[in-house]
Amino acid sequence: MKIIIINGPNLNLLGKREPGIYGTQGFDSFFTLLSEKYPSIELEYFQSNHEGQLIDKIHETGFSYDGIIFNAGAYTHTSIALADAIAAIPSPVIEVHISNVHAREKFRRHSHMAAYCQGVITGFGLQGYEMAIRFLIEKG
Ligand code: DQA
Repeated sequence: MKIIIINGPNLNLLGKREPGIYGTQGFDSFFTLLSEKYPSIELEYFQSNHEGQLIDKIHETGFSYDGIIFNAGAYTHTSIALADAIAAIPSPVIEVHISNVHAREKFRRHSHMAAYCQGVITGFGLQGYEMAIRFLIEKG
């Protein structure tokens, strides 16, 4: 089973960025722990601050992977191009947010991509990524 976690803009700064909202753990160490916990899965990780690179990665993986776990950061709220990319592929995409986007500024409440995703996990910290993995495993 092949799953990719894709993180969008500013998520390379996890651990340093607004720790009161996003926590103090960097994503690389979290990803190592996650990979060790689910050795039977081929788990990959990709991060980019660039919209086009995120679209390219969705195209590259979206026709063959068993699932895409996608935190598009602020592009969630702005990018029709990313929503179109998700609509174009057959692999299930799970939208993840570390913070509870509904408990923050109003502009974070709208997601262009949510309608094309299997579901949305928001507000559970980094644990949200693991919740998405567990769903994909059970879904098979
Ligand atoms: C985020 C929420 C977005 O609104 C924000 O722009 C981010 C991170 C989250 O994981 O909580 O960059 O996607």
